[in-house]
Amino acid sequence: MKTRITELFDIEHPIIQGGMHYVGFAEMAAGVSNAGGLGMITALTMPTPDDLAKEIARCHEMTDKPFGVNLTFLPAFKAPPYAEYIEAIAKGGVKIVETAGRSPEAYMPALKDAGIKVIHKCTSVRHSLKAQKIGCDAVSVDGFECGGHPGEDDIPNMVLLPRAAEELSIPFVASGGIGNAQQLVAALALGADGINMGTRFIATKEAPVHQNVKDALIAASELDTRLIMRPLRNTERVMMNPAVEKIIEIEKEKGADIGIEDVMELVAGVYPKVMTEGEMDVGAWSCGMVAGLINDIPTCKELLTRMVNDAEDIIRGRLAGFI
Ligand SMILES: Cc1cc2nc3c(=O)[nH]c(=O)nc-3n(C[C@H](O)[C@H](O)[C@H](O)COP(=O)(O)O)c2cc1C
Repeated sequence: MKTRITELFDIEHPIIQGGMHYVGFAEMAAGVSNAGGLGMITALTMPTPDDLAKEIARCHEMTDKPFGVNLTFLPAFKAPPYAEYIEAIAKGGVKIVETAGRSPEAYMPALKDAGIKVIHKCTSVRHSLKAQKIGCDAVSVDGFECGGHPGEDDIPNMVLLPRAAEELSIPFVASGGIGNAQQLVAALALGADGINMGTRFIATKEAPVHQNVKDALIAASELDTRLIMRPLRNTERVMMNPAVEKIIEIEKEKGADIGIEDVMELVAGVYPKVMTEGEMDVGAWSCGMVAGLINDIPTCKELLTRMVNDAEDIIRGRLAGFI
């Protein structure tokens, strides 16, 4: 498959792995890139810019294919040293950055001076247009189904993607809820130039997470995610578990008076315990509705080859048969 995204990033398949906290280590990024997609190291999982530099070097040892780094701008009590993270990315010879959260505008000059292509992940048409205006090379349009932060508009991809296609001139990928070939074809039909997946990539052999996490994804149905932190305007789609039930209870109890401190211990610092230790109920962890479509743990290569081959069959067979 050749699209504006495969051309832009010099990759074989129009399939990107979105940044994922405590999942996006070198093993994950290299696994996806070696399979012909675009893997992504998650910068802020590395405690310092120096650690990021080492992770990038490790990834270079595992693949000679292009890979990217995700840089997330989310509300934090103490802002991470973003300029230094960008320096580590540039010095590490990485030419693709996925930005997410707030607008990357302040960092665009540094990224562009380093010859880095920027794909900004956002959840609305207006933010996509802003990204286009400030010089992003592409956007990743994240629908309401997505794992992680879907924003506050709640527009699912069936409407969001064709709306993005109406307005954008730069290439965009569909993100959120995607895990199989049918959805890849649908995303292309709706105007996207490729797809971005998060949750689906956690259930692969290469994902460097505890087996409990992969088992939880296989066991989950599409009904098993919940939205938390909506009253804080920091909505996150997470896997349902007892900690998430407790957060929802606290949110009901406190109403408009809620503060981040009320749920802090259930949302902050839980990723190492979940992803590395496999303590599934210790707190809230991002997960998309696509969990309902995940039934196996293939290698990245098996997953991407299957998706692309089946997509071609659908286009040539089922769809062509309608004409
Ligand atoms: C466990 C997990 C952690 C994530 N962490 C981040 C992150 O740190 N930064 C970010 O931009 N997106 C993060 N995401 C969002 C993904 O990059 C991607 O946009 C999203 O998962 C797409 O939806 P899907 O899970 O339905 O495929 C995370 C998603 C998951 C499932």
